[in-house]
Amino acid sequence: GDVRLWGGRFASGPAEALERLSASVHFDWRLAPYDIAGSRAHARVLHRAGLLTDDELERMLAGLDRLAADVADGSFTGTIADEDVHTALERGLLERLGPELGGKLRAGRSRNDQVATLFRMYLRDHARIIGGLLADLQAALIGLAEAHPDVAMPGRTHFQHAQPILFAHHVLAHVQALSRDGERLRQWDARTAVSPYGAGALAGSSLGLDPEAVAAELGFEGGSSANSIDGTAARDFVAEFAFITAMAGVDISRIAEEIIIWNTREFSFVTLDDAFSTGSSIMPQKKNPDIAELARGKSGRLIGNLTGLLATLKALPLAYNRDLQEDKEPVFDSCDQLEVLLPAFTGMVATLTVNAARMAELAPAGFSLATDIAEWLVKRGVPFRVAHEVAGECVKVCEAEGIELDQLTDEQFAKISPHLTPEVRTVLTVEGALAARDARGGTAPSAVAVQLDEAGAALAEQ
Ligand code: ARG
Repeated sequence: GDVRLWGGRFASGPAEALERLSASVHFDWRLAPYDIAGSRAHARVLHRAGLLTDDELERMLAGLDRLAADVADGSFTGTIADEDVHTALERGLLERLGPELGGKLRAGRSRNDQVATLFRMYLRDHARIIGGLLADLQAALIGLAEAHPDVAMPGRTHFQHAQPILFAHHVLAHVQALSRDGERLRQWDARTAVSPYGAGALAGSSLGLDPEAVAAELGFEGGSSANSIDGTAARDFVAEFAFITAMAGVDISRIAEEIIIWNTREFSFVTLDDAFSTGSSIMPQKKNPDIAELARGKSGRLIGNLTGLLATLKALPLAYNRDLQEDKEPVFDSCDQLEVLLPAFTGMVATLTVNAARMAELAPAGFSLATDIAEWLVKRGVPFRVAHEVAGECVKVCEAEGIELDQLTDEQFAKISPHLTPEVRTVLTVEGALAARDARGGTAPSAVAVQLDEAGAALAEQ
């Protein structure tokens, strides 16, 4: 039969083309368990308002339980003719309880406040799942840092050798970024814990229902919406979720890009585990970093989900407009992509092999200790402007002769500047350069050990 929620004033049913355009049930069906939870809470406030008898409430809740079980085992599903998940579940309830009782649940609610509430519930659950997966990746990176506490590598700016750093320090920089993404998800969750249920279509309900009771039953710690119009029309919680997931995708893709580069023959800094790399259909020797490449690719898709959503929201007048049905697929996709990407990415990180000797060998290359010469001079009272010039002169001589800084002779040092006594050699080692940077946040092994402790503790606290 026709279960449309709005047949009364229409002489004919919808055109098939309209039905096809209008349908969202193929993508909003994943909200079904949340819709049923909302219906349970709504039945209770109808009962408390005297609109359902004790007996009716009991039968209503039993009907919703049966419907939930049938949804869970797949014996009840929505169809295109149902339009959306809310209409499909209404049909399911009517089929199970009959039109008398089944038709009572709709009082005082609208799909507008329903969908705004259910969507928040869905995204809050997935924020928790994604936060957990991000924590797993942080743990894998922390493990990588812990396993290589004193491996030096070339630190880069402009992608050129800059100064030696500890590999663990570099890896922990990514952990910092990911931990902020996790923090953003938790802060977003606190803001999103407000229930629009009870807002009705936009103006609230005249039936004496209690939105705060519904909010409490559905786990919204922040209570119910202060404004029914905002409750039904606001989607900044969706856009913010899309931003946070896009940012996480971008942070992951920055790790991915480095792994791709480190895994090249030219770099040979890391080797990927066979289980987390792929082969080529034509080149038998190939072992490709597909997981990292997919991470890079998916970050673009996550950005697209954010920008598409913002374009949908731009200039939409209050309150609900059907445009808003376009709000779900982008962030459902963002959840799906991160939830399939992160376990693979974390596995790749957890199993990669580090070529410590190769990294350490390149750490001092490219005159990366020139800054140490300049700072050594500064400690002897030479103005930095002069010290910078002198160290630059050392590089120039080395470049001309094809040697490294520590290969300059005492005579060459003295000729470049009288300040450059043979003791300058004490800072021309990678170990010395690293150990000297021991203030908080620096790359000295002692400072990195502190950072490692803090990162581990912060992760355990989440
Ligand atoms: N499927 C709709 C959406 O996702 C639900 C709300 C529909 N409301 C309406 N008045 N047509 O936005």
